[in-house]
Amino acid sequence: MEYEDQIRKIDNIVSSPMKEFKPEELRGIVERYEKNHSKSKAAFERAKKIIPGGVEHNLAFNFPFPLESKKLYDCYMETVDDVVLTDYLCCGGPIILGHNYKPLTEKVVETIQEAGSCHGITHEMEYKSAEQLQKHFPSCEKIRWLQSGTEADMLALRIARVYTGNKHVIKFGGHYHGWSDQLVYDLHIPGTKRMESHGIPKNIYKYIDSCPPNDIERLREMFKEKRRVAAVILEPMGAESGAIPVKPGFNKQVEELCHENDALLISDEVVCAFRLDMGGGQAYFGYEPDLSVFGKIVGHGYPSAAAIGGKEEILNTVAAGVGGGSKRAYCGGTLAANPLTCTAAYWAIKFVEETNATERAGKVATRLSNGMNEVFEKHGLPWFSYNYNATVHLHSSAVFALDITDPEQAPQIKERKEFMEHLGAALIDQELISVAGSRFYTNIQHTDEIIDKTLEKIDNICSKIE
Ligand SMILES: Cc1ncc(COP(=O)(O)O)c(C=O)c1O
Repeated sequence: MEYEDQIRKIDNIVSSPMKEFKPEELRGIVERYEKNHSKSKAAFERAKKIIPGGVEHNLAFNFPFPLESKKLYDCYMETVDDVVLTDYLCCGGPIILGHNYKPLTEKVVETIQEAGSCHGITHEMEYKSAEQLQKHFPSCEKIRWLQSGTEADMLALRIARVYTGNKHVIKFGGHYHGWSDQLVYDLHIPGTKRMESHGIPKNIYKYIDSCPPNDIERLREMFKEKRRVAAVILEPMGAESGAIPVKPGFNKQVEELCHENDALLISDEVVCAFRLDMGGGQAYFGYEPDLSVFGKIVGHGYPSAAAIGGKEEILNTVAAGVGGGSKRAYCGGTLAANPLTCTAAYWAIKFVEETNATERAGKVATRLSNGMNEVFEKHGLPWFSYNYNATVHLHSSAVFALDITDPEQAPQIKERKEFMEHLGAALIDQELISVAGSRFYTNIQHTDEIIDKTLEKIDNICSKIE
């Protein structure tokens, strides 16, 4: 789908009254949810006593209550109530080979048996996995392993400031780069600025600002206003993994502006690496960042998997060891680069290569996205879908695209978010699970037949809409 069509369709959804479930259908969905997931409910009640809110994961469905998993395999998630969900959540992106992919599990278990968990010295998998990653990301002359995407994004800002000697960092409205103090700014819905920044002192944002997505002229002005910009950071597909799609050619224009102004471009590849393209957003869209940030998928979801890569001269600012010169970006992490994670990273990348996972997961994603559009058309709904290779977006309430400066649209955040929760529950009712009812990640275990069954279920959901 062309970019202009995507934007036109999103505008149509946010400027029209929202489509909702027929009240009796929503009641039925909630009643069945309560009945079919009684053990999950009991688990939630117990968890609430010890865990704040009873749930720890932002991606978990919370309406009417979160589900507890028992077993995961291929593209399935089995809950404690023995409900088998077809999984398009894929833990928010990292699972592209399928859950508990046996050849990968075996390699990781072998390493655990031999090396345990962590040891604080080096291990051959550290450089082997870095070499493996670099093969697909030639812009990364040097790589350092870290423990989470949040941490890697946070370090990227520090490196950019040390290297350039400048302070200002520009992000884009709605783009997500983890939850470090400086980057919890203008999240999810562009223009919301400090809305989610409770507990973070205002002056943390003295040198952080956001530019509206896809607005190259505004970015140009910001470079003039701020003068000394250390870096611009972006999500390659656009805000929220492409929920607000990126304009063709935009990332390249950002690169050019950065380099005209001696600032670094940071490409946040946490979702894009191996899922959008083997070479991530930078290969897919054709631009060359100075720093690249990797997370979760880089170790296929094994814990503590993240990395930062970039030009040698820039990455040398994070050389480890006590001491070092004044041009040093301090960085630590006891568990970073542990043998387990590096083994997972090395083999995950190898298996993604060998199975052609990026292309295969992308092919079924396209089938899912095209099929959804046919279903929506059949039901006369304004909803629509598009995919960036193995990431599928479904716009129903289009909450992320609300214009918060528009007095008609701004008050709709709550009801449009609520509708997403209802849609999430309706998907569970059909034994499907996705990210917040709006994003579907595919993996190589999703076959054409599974996709076609999913489409029948989405058809069922659409017949419940008013
Ligand atoms: C683009 C992007 N950057 C950074 C992060 C943060 O990564 P982590 O959850 O590993 O801290 C995420 C997580 O979803 C992400 O999608």
